[in-house]
Amino acid sequence: MLNKKSRSKRVVPRKRLIIFVPLPGEENYKPFFILSRFINDEEGILLENKTKEIKKEIVSELNRVKDLKDIEKLRVEYLGRKGVVTLLLRKLGILSPEERPKAGQLLNQTKREIEDLLKTKEVEIEKLEKEKRLQGEGIDITLPGRKIDKGAIHPINLVLKEIEEIFLSLGFKIEEGPEVELDYYNFEALNIPKDHPARDDQDSFYISREILLRTHTSPVEIRVMEKQLPPIRIIATGKCYRRDAADSTHSPMFHQIEGLAVDKDITFGDLKGVLTFFVHKMFGKDRKVRFRPGYFPFTEPSAEVDVSCLLCQGKGCSACGYSGWLEIMGAGETDPAVFKMVGYDPEKYSGFAFGMGAERIAMLKYGINDIRLFFENDLRFLKQF
Ligand code: PHE
Repeated sequence: MLNKKSRSKRVVPRKRLIIFVPLPGEENYKPFFILSRFINDEEGILLENKTKEIKKEIVSELNRVKDLKDIEKLRVEYLGRKGVVTLLLRKLGILSPEERPKAGQLLNQTKREIEDLLKTKEVEIEKLEKEKRLQGEGIDITLPGRKIDKGAIHPINLVLKEIEEIFLSLGFKIEEGPEVELDYYNFEALNIPKDHPARDDQDSFYISREILLRTHTSPVEIRVMEKQLPPIRIIATGKCYRRDAADSTHSPMFHQIEGLAVDKDITFGDLKGVLTFFVHKMFGKDRKVRFRPGYFPFTEPSAEVDVSCLLCQGKGCSACGYSGWLEIMGAGETDPAVFKMVGYDPEKYSGFAFGMGAERIAMLKYGINDIRLFFENDLRFLKQF
């Protein structure tokens, strides 16, 4: 009996056995054997128990996993070429044909479960790592924002723009002319011949005998009239240059605003009306305007235009030299000699012109007492506008 028993055990001789039992509750329950040395375990352990053990093991290992590298290590250990599950699968061949499908099914299912466990953990770790990364990169809302330095429009440009708007509203158009100008346009055509004493007031920077930096914007009047016939209503703004030493009221470079209107029957009354409208728009309705006789070679009659002092309201103070008036521009009826230079018939057309310094207007408007402040580029000054 003993002999027989031992012989029957030696069906698979000298090899430790494992009895495989299908999952509980399964029909066609039929135990089978698997060679225990391949799973390197105690004799007699059930394959089903072994797979359970493997799963338990991987679950506890997964709990200790810190990063994706650890997961990869586990994958190799369990499912890799020499992994525990792979080795078991490889050995299925030694089972009998009836045992093989069950065992294979169990192992493959285990493999899938391990794959799922690894994948779930992998996703979890990736999510954690991403969150960590995002937290590291996160916006620190307690950090003060970076200040954007905003530029400001230069006070001269502000004034030029404002003046342009006023004249545009009256139907004037904006024209331009060159800063490097011909003697002809700057003087000659404006009725200032070579030897005329009026040239002394506007000493220029000469590039050659005939080319200079314009001393005023009046040459634009000539350039416009040469191009077209009346009616004309234009203003021209821009830089002008004079050989003046810089002081609180003089600068070798400054800006002017020129105006010209030419048509049939333009009178001095039109000039007064337009310029009074301008003063009221620019400085306020309560300003008084005075037209004082003056002299310019290219206008006849000519006037200096004064506005009642903004500081003392015309009572007299140091700003207005105790006269109550501040001079803001030169103006007049266009001289017939100028019309002849551009080929207009002075019997048919009449017109008026005016010219003012942008710096002077800005100084009056903003209460600035030194023209040099405009060009020193001191931010403490410029930031105020
Ligand atoms: N161009 C003159 C100046 O610079 C001003 C002016 C312009 C006077 C137009 C009369 C008419 O002084």
